[in-house]
Amino acid sequence: MNRKFEKLADNVYLSDDAKSVVIIDQTKLPNEVVELTLSTAQQMYDAIKTLAVRGAPAIGICAGYSIFCLAQQIEAETFEEFYPQLKKASEYLNSSRPTAVNLSWALNRMDKMVCANRDKSVAEIVELMGEEAVKIQEEDIAMCKAISEYGLSLLKEGDGVLTHCNAGPLATSRYGTAIGPMLMAQEKGINVKVFADETRPLLQGARLTSYELQKAGVDVTLICDNMASMVMKNGWVQTCFVGCDRIAANGDFANKIGTSGVAILAKHYGIPVYTLGPSSTIDMNCPNGDAIEIELRDPSEIRSKFYEKPMALEEVKCFNPAFDVTDHTLLSGIITEKGIIYPPFSENLAKFFGK
Ligand code: MRU
Repeated sequence: MNRKFEKLADNVYLSDDAKSVVIIDQTKLPNEVVELTLSTAQQMYDAIKTLAVRGAPAIGICAGYSIFCLAQQIEAETFEEFYPQLKKASEYLNSSRPTAVNLSWALNRMDKMVCANRDKSVAEIVELMGEEAVKIQEEDIAMCKAISEYGLSLLKEGDGVLTHCNAGPLATSRYGTAIGPMLMAQEKGINVKVFADETRPLLQGARLTSYELQKAGVDVTLICDNMASMVMKNGWVQTCFVGCDRIAANGDFANKIGTSGVAILAKHYGIPVYTLGPSSTIDMNCPNGDAIEIELRDPSEIRSKFYEKPMALEEVKCFNPAFDVTDHTLLSGIITEKGIIYPPFSENLAKFFGK
């Protein structure tokens, strides 16, 4: 099934019969807009693992709908029969990717709701799961809008913004996080110039961010990752907005590999760096960046993916971490739906988000 891309808000949604999850296959963008219908646990796991659905909030939304769909497939009369099967499916989905906390956050939220309603019939519990999954998406829409408004308050006419990876509508709901302020600026007639890092090795910046911004009419320039220093030196960048996959209690945060390099360069040139993310990406149980598990991916993504022919010998060793951790000392602020959090982050994150 092919649909018009204008329906950005629906990059993850429930099928009409509410038995499957439908996603825009992000691996095919920007050349094809194709949807995938996910009905089995294996299809859902693979969609997250292969980045057909990606971006921390979108993964969480997909996980909420997925576990609801899988719950409907469980044949059980009692909670005691139902719950172990549900738990097994949830743990399987949770093992698809380790770094973005939104995956476990959404599955834990569904689990808590199920356990709190254990006295109800299985049918009632499953129905409540559907409502909870929809709420996760609705809340994400509201959070992304609020984050974008706070982010926009930091921009002025003519500013240059550098972003890395993709934290737009495809990765979230509606506006997105780190590119939401620029989409909102465009709507309000404020001109900003965006520099999108291509984001090796999976090119989320080239394939997704420049695509989303170009389609929205925002002035976007695509650069290779190693050009960031030059555009900063030229004075073309007034601020850096990046997304996040997990923010630790001290403000360290994991985001797409290369983000920490952007922050180090920005410090050199005196450019502020903000990470933008919803409270579902803040992990107050994670003390600092050292405690964040970093996903390691297949070497073929470096050696041969996107090339007509392999660009390195098969036997050459490759190191392919999907994320890095940016130290909180490089960060000017964390833009959340509750407001902009400034240093000292340990103290101020605790004030906003408790333990
Ligand atoms: O591997 P990906 O493409 O899922 O990585 C995504 C990112 O690093 C995003 O910046 C992050 O998830 C924030 S999306 C609002």
